[in-house]
Amino acid sequence: MSDRVFVFDTTLRDGEQSPGATMNLDEKIRMARQLETLGVDIIEAGFPIASQGDFEAVQAICKAVGDVQVAGLCRTVIKDIDRCWQAVKEARNPRIHTFVATSDIHMKYKLNKSPEQVLDMAAKAVSHAAQYTSNVEFSAEDASRSDWDFLVKVFETAIAAGATTCNVPDTVGYTQPFEYYEMIQYLLGNIPNAGKAIFSVHCHNDLGLAVANSLAAIQAGARQVECTVSGIGERAGNAALEEVVMAINTRKELYNVETRIDTEQIYPSCRRLSQIIGQPIPPYKAIVGTNAFAHESGVHQDGVIKNRLTYEIMTPASIGRTGTDIVIGKHSGSHAVKKKAEELGYELDDEHLAMLFSAVKELADKKEQIYDEDVEAMILEKVYRRRDKFRLVDMSVFSGTGDVPPHAAVVMEFGSLGGEVDIRRISSFGEGSIDAVFKAIYGLVGVPAKLERYSVNAVTQGSDALGSVAVRIEHEGIKAVGRATDADVVRASALAMINALNRLEKTREEK
Ligand code: KIV
Ligand code: ZN
Repeated sequence: MSDRVFVFDTTLRDGEQSPGATMNLDEKIRMARQLETLGVDIIEAGFPIASQGDFEAVQAICKAVGDVQVAGLCRTVIKDIDRCWQAVKEARNPRIHTFVATSDIHMKYKLNKSPEQVLDMAAKAVSHAAQYTSNVEFSAEDASRSDWDFLVKVFETAIAAGATTCNVPDTVGYTQPFEYYEMIQYLLGNIPNAGKAIFSVHCHNDLGLAVANSLAAIQAGARQVECTVSGIGERAGNAALEEVVMAINTRKELYNVETRIDTEQIYPSCRRLSQIIGQPIPPYKAIVGTNAFAHESGVHQDGVIKNRLTYEIMTPASIGRTGTDIVIGKHSGSHAVKKKAEELGYELDDEHLAMLFSAVKELADKKEQIYDEDVEAMILEKVYRRRDKFRLVDMSVFSGTGDVPPHAAVVMEFGSLGGEVDIRRISSFGEGSIDAVFKAIYGLVGVPAKLERYSVNAVTQGSDALGSVAVRIEHEGIKAVGRATDADVVRASALAMINALNRLEKTREEK
């Protein structure tokens, strides 16, 4: 019988620390629900002491999900642990995840503590957390650069104090697969009470080895893997959940372990995340990139036609990359639209369904074929984006090349749903039509933000494909990402900019 590997997803904590991946409360809840559908065992929902926003997000996620375990992160500091418990205690299965650094360099320069002091902090923190719950995880930050015998002592102490999961992070993405394998084996073989805890790995991707290191650790006996959807995370990211899981599944005979992940939810999960954070899945991304199953060379195509197994080690269907039987178009009724939304993982109430239905009808007049991606984009654009403070009412753009420079006229609505609404108009010149639109929007909102990044992608194929635009802006030290999808890329750009300004405003208010 194969062993179970627990999947600990930290998309909403370590992943959210990735530049440009900040999510608001609604988005975190939507992502958490998708993670539960995906079948992860533990969702790390945030770092409750970090801010009031983080605390509330962790609390809200605990209430929004069912039996999946929900972890909150905290330092080995009593007030952090208390705050963490306040945030997670309403979950059906709460976990406290406490960490302290154990490498010489971190203890000396970051913590200014001796190894004995760190050992003491770990013992006190874990026993304090264990008074709240028996589900306590202890992480030795920067473990891969720590002294192995010191780690033996720290983990032995943490387990004796009540830790049921011991995490061995490669915090700076420094280790190598064979070295990490030996390290995990050493720890399992030398910690006297190792059998009382599950050993976990948490790898960063600075040298591009996060997945390889995680797999080596599993091979050595680790039974929890910490990862993120699409590998988002600090710096170069964390181990990508979809890569670890598909490696384990595809090479079952080697690993002889299993997870509870519903692999057909992998692609929908990566797509959901990409829509939420406004960053497209790179085409060459393993498992979920557009090219991952595309065979371009004649020799490969010939082989695949003769027998798919010649060049395909897994099927697109196994990760949920298939079209479904329900085709949405001009003649679809609201029942079909509802069903499609459900297939994509969205439960819509009647009011939201009516909004989606009218958006589908509007799009069907402009576009021949409506793909799943289009429907999902509409759900996110038209349904979930209603409570914005700034909203686009209308715009017109002139993109001349002669004496009249490109200019745009923009009309926007200001105010919140149910409150006072103020309509404002402006026109502006620009270097190009998108620049003119952005200047007009800045003029209306009164925030001359700096545009740090701008990208356009086609959501589906064909010249009538929806254009998906992502922007990143910065103003007075606050960064915000915005995204939008529309059949017209200039309009999508305006909507993405307005979305970013709304998010900037929210962050400013939260601060
Ligand atoms: O990378 C790391 O060490 C972490 C810990 C807090 C687990 O994220
Ligand atoms: Zn990390």
